[in-house]
Amino acid sequence: MPVITCIDDLKRLHKRRTPKMFYDYAESGSWTEQTFRENTSDFEKIRLRQRVAVDMSNRTLASKMIGQDVAMPVALAPVGLTGMQRADGEIKAARAAEAFGVPFTLSTMSICSIEDVAEHTSRPFWFQLYTMKDQDYLRRLIQRAKDAKCSALVITLDLQILGQRHKDLKNGLSAPPKLTPAVMADLATKWTWGLEMLATKRRSFGNIVGHAQGVTDPSSLFSWTAEQFDPQLDWKKIEEIKELWGGKVILKGILDPEDAKMAAKVGCDAILVSNHGGRQLDGAISTIRALDPILQAVGGEVEVHLDSGIRSGQDVLKALAMGASGTFIGRSFIYGLGANGEDGVRSALEIIAKEMDISMALCGKRDINEVDRDCLQIPEGFSGQWQG
Ligand code: GLV
Repeated sequence: MPVITCIDDLKRLHKRRTPKMFYDYAESGSWTEQTFRENTSDFEKIRLRQRVAVDMSNRTLASKMIGQDVAMPVALAPVGLTGMQRADGEIKAARAAEAFGVPFTLSTMSICSIEDVAEHTSRPFWFQLYTMKDQDYLRRLIQRAKDAKCSALVITLDLQILGQRHKDLKNGLSAPPKLTPAVMADLATKWTWGLEMLATKRRSFGNIVGHAQGVTDPSSLFSWTAEQFDPQLDWKKIEEIKELWGGKVILKGILDPEDAKMAAKVGCDAILVSNHGGRQLDGAISTIRALDPILQAVGGEVEVHLDSGIRSGQDVLKALAMGASGTFIGRSFIYGLGANGEDGVRSALEIIAKEMDISMALCGKRDINEVDRDCLQIPEGFSGQWQG
């Protein structure tokens, strides 16, 4: 068993153990992947400020996100097709998150259904919603999340239409995979994945198949997003969905201060600064650059969370020190899942917590809620040079 010391180790194992089609799905950005790359490389441009001779005993990472206690301010982001990275992947990830004490967010485009995850966990999880043209289906989906006692609705605003990821088209991405000669040859080297997949009944989009009408190919992400997603989504519809839900709401996919102001005006418990992991508008700025102008625009009116590009506890620390009050990880937990299932997700969370804790201490802080800009050295113009 290799010694796992960082998220990159999990990524290497994920790649070795998971069919190429699904590894590539997770490890893609749209078109040239510029935004996907800059989400991580921009984190590297910010430096942490080392301080010494400060008492570092009794440290804590415990915090709150949208009023809920969290062991650290790191939630698992909604990731489509998680149950194709490893059989029953959403259940495994949700269980690891629950044991660790951080929120799990189930994607609308999950393999395990809302009911499957609820049945196998004991604490409420969050549900991520894509807005659909079919109002009846949308209402039923929201009701299903309510019945499952989901404690927040994460409404995604940046995917009414799918950005093109070249690898998915080349690989013929589908769930379950179509058994072409190339896929069979790849699966021949991924035995554990295949055996686990044969042992589960959850191999298609659990929230869609049997629930939504008029999807021509239910195994294809491309056909069902094109056929189902609502291209006419606007702020009024968001208000209606909020009302229908009646509980806590996070608005995901905000990258611009003007949209952040609108989100605060419509009302929500948090906005999630996100560019969908660089998977939608290629050429958009990284989230860590977008964060500061957004914080200034909303001026403390709502909580501001951030995802896209977090691969370490140091990255979380930088986002929090910049002013975010919570973060989400997507690929970082998916690497763990693909590498080692539920244990792998736990490893990913442990790695991030340890990196955050030690780095926080070396910045001279003992409480994650007290980290601030003092912990950072930010290059001049880092956030500002992209404005206007
Ligand atoms: C869905 O959320 C995707 O990015 O593929």
